Amino acid sequence: MTQRSWAEPYRIKVVEPIKMTTRPMREKAIKDAGYNTFLLKSDDVYIDLLTDSGTNAMSDRQWAGMMMGDEAYAGSKNFYYLESNIRKYYGMPYFVPTHQGRAAEHIISKILIRPGDIVAGNMYFTTTRLHQELAGATFRDVIIDEAHDPDDPHPFKGDIDLAKLAALIKEVGAKKIAYVFMAGPVNMAGGQPFSMKNLKAVRDLCKKHGIRLWFDATRACENAYFIKAREKGYAAKSIAAILKEMCDCFEGLWVSAKKDLMVNIGGILATRDKKVFEQARALVVVYEGMHTYGGLAGRDMEAMAIGIEEMVDYDTIRARVGQVEYCGRLLQKYGVPIVTPIGGHAVFLNARKFFPHIAQEQFPAQTLAAEIYVESGVRSMERGIVSAGRDPQTGKNNFPNLELVRLTFPRRVYTQAHIDVMAESIAAVYDNRKKVKGLKMVFEPKMLRFFQARFKKAA
Ligand code: F0G
Repeated sequence: MTQRSWAEPYRIKVVEPIKMTTRPMREKAIKDAGYNTFLLKSDDVYIDLLTDSGTNAMSDRQWAGMMMGDEAYAGSKNFYYLESNIRKYYGMPYFVPTHQGRAAEHIISKILIRPGDIVAGNMYFTTTRLHQELAGATFRDVIIDEAHDPDDPHPFKGDIDLAKLAALIKEVGAKKIAYVFMAGPVNMAGGQPFSMKNLKAVRDLCKKHGIRLWFDATRACENAYFIKAREKGYAAKSIAAILKEMCDCFEGLWVSAKKDLMVNIGGILATRDKKVFEQARALVVVYEGMHTYGGLAGRDMEAMAIGIEEMVDYDTIRARVGQVEYCGRLLQKYGVPIVTPIGGHAVFLNARKFFPHIAQEQFPAQTLAAEIYVESGVRSMERGIVSAGRDPQTGKNNFPNLELVRLTFPRRVYTQAHIDVMAESIAAVYDNRKKVKGLKMVFEPKMLRFFQARFKKAA
């Protein structure tokens, strides 16, 4: 026997019981929730794969850190510990805390964007694009075409297409581009990483034209893991070294600490540009709180600082991405159509292929998320036409090529047996797929509609 499996570098010390539900209970719950998994009560959910955001299990060290909160209004010692870790691991000298990622997006959009500007990036993210639009910018997607194809095997589907970016610079002029940003891995593309080679080429192009380059570093350690695993020359480098090498290419970054840092709340805005920092420090007091707490308790900043040290641990990140991959492989074995390569934080089901008989106007991914919940109590998230929203200029629906359901894995929370049960239940939905009908939207919020929209079963 030559096989040697690996396992998580931690064990369970505290458990949280979960409620088991019956099918009639779940049928009622999803109807009451307007067939929107965001509107379910968490108590009615068995395995919660809605998001990996703020749903992670903290370590004993992080919980111990929570008792070390210095809740002074100004100058909390937890802030200085966090600041020193941001300098050490992200390499950014200036930092303001925010209550979560979108608050950092709000502040940086206000600072860098003038009305009428363009922002270019490797695919949109819901909150990121909204804050760019609210600040007066138009978002332009310059990701490689492969990213929009759920079956393309490209190992770095998060890469920017340099020709697209060069053409955009030529079309609108460098002065009109507020900044270029790269997210890694790209959430909406299926958790797909960018390569170091591409990042450096993008940096050179931006530098040549004097365009700012910013980093959505929300899941940067997963991106670093993929670079280590897939890119030539990186196998022997540590996650921390790769993270630092990525960050060195950017002028600044924002982070939703609710992901990589394995905490329940928190955000980061960090930069090497002193002027931008001074502006951020002025705005954070208006929208978040004093610049040494930014809407967070001292204890939360302590847990974040410790989380940074834990997130770069190779065995931890390997177990995290390994669990996602295990789930993806199992679903492939059952014939369920998923996005490939398998992503870093989630497995994405291809709802177009799952329900070829449901038109995109009848929300195949929204339908699939509701069906999976009824089958097994597993909660997932729509990432298709509902999430894509409407074009702010024309008011028409955006029709994304990717019509996906995301099964997102909280870090250090679920076991392999949970994944087995979940994959079996999705296989059961797949076996019955032909009988399923689509949905009709009956309530549509103006902004970020996916959070609160309500649906009924289509006739
Ligand atoms: N950027 C990325 C890439 C994200 O995935 C998120 C949040 C944000 C920014 C915003 O951060 O939620 O702390 O305000 N993503 C969550 C998700 C909500 O489920 O993917 P936030």
